[in-house]
Amino acid sequence: MINKKDFLLNENIYFLNNGSYGVCPRSVFNKYQEWQRIIEFQPVEFFLKILLPELKKSRKLIGDFINCHHDDLILIRNATYAINLVIRSLDLKKNDEVLVSNHEYGACLNAWEFWQKEKGFKVKKVNIDLPLPGTSELINKIKSHISSQTKLIFFSHISSKTAQLFPVKEICKLAREHNTISVIDGAHAIGHCPLNIKEIDPDFYFSNIHKWLFAPKGTAFLYSRKALQTTVKPLITGWGWGSNREMRSGSDYIDSNQFYGTSDLSSFLSIAEALKFYRENRVADWQKRCNELVKYFIIEANKITGKESLYTEFPECLMMAVIEIPQKYSALELKNLLYDKYRIEVPVINWERKLLIRISIQVFNTEEEVEYLLKALKIIFD
Ligand SMILES: Cc1ncc(COP(=O)(O)O)c(C=O)c1O
Repeated sequence: MINKKDFLLNENIYFLNNGSYGVCPRSVFNKYQEWQRIIEFQPVEFFLKILLPELKKSRKLIGDFINCHHDDLILIRNATYAINLVIRSLDLKKNDEVLVSNHEYGACLNAWEFWQKEKGFKVKKVNIDLPLPGTSELINKIKSHISSQTKLIFFSHISSKTAQLFPVKEICKLAREHNTISVIDGAHAIGHCPLNIKEIDPDFYFSNIHKWLFAPKGTAFLYSRKALQTTVKPLITGWGWGSNREMRSGSDYIDSNQFYGTSDLSSFLSIAEALKFYRENRVADWQKRCNELVKYFIIEANKITGKESLYTEFPECLMMAVIEIPQKYSALELKNLLYDKYRIEVPVINWERKLLIRISIQVFNTEEEVEYLLKALKIIFD
């Protein structure tokens, strides 16, 4: 049975926030450090002989896990890197429009805003209320914002601020039907909800392997549709690019993006161990219990706060949820109160004039921790 002791977490904290950065098991962290020692043992041999085949092995493992060819994937540091790489690469010009939702992650929105200023395109927001409408209504809403200037649709698979599962397969289909590019921010998706790239069929899809799939921090991937791979320009140009390149995998897309100078890529090489942890501990089975616990939390928390649920039907796979809370404190005051007085780690979020608490239940979390948070909320809001 998976236990908090299998992780390096501070046992004195009620840690109900796997969602922000992910939590790495001891076994994976040990493997990560083992790779760091291998690098230091013979750095030249490591970089010239070992690194590339090992990166390929990691890409193969992820490709098999999410049903896409490993050569369509590049391993990158994180979702923020991915969105910058995609936006910078695309030929978005003045008068072009990009559709995003009001559920998107702040760092990604900043990237859109930065590049909008650089390139002159326009970002248009589609406001979608909570609880989310059904799929066809949601798709019609996005569709109503598409114009002849729309060149790209950017949506989260699982949103960060509002913990909602979006119908990305249908969103990508809509984008294709209107000849626009689909970019999906799946930062929270891999290891969390079933992820099948062939089925979703996006143009670009990225996810953080460090969030819900147990990899060390700074492990993510970007999938790019084959036809668009030649458009992907490296954010940093180095030995993977040019006729004198030192990295040769047979793909410019992979070469030019996977080596950007000397750095520690041990986290990428720890993917096998993260998947081993996931499989040997039958995490997918445990996730049903996480989902049940989250549902229980929503019902009980709403009884305390008197607020309505922000979900019409809670998705089967989600292990993360938000509840609305009364505006008795500011987000920061409540966050500090929960942490300083009760030792509870949860994000408190401002979203569309609502105040939300987000709970993440990863496999190491217990019923007792959820009850403890409910008890604290009862004291605070009674
Ligand atoms: C939906 C979403 N997108 C992007 C990110 C950015 O991830 P990173 O900080 O690893 O780049 C996050 C991080 O929490 C996220 O939740």
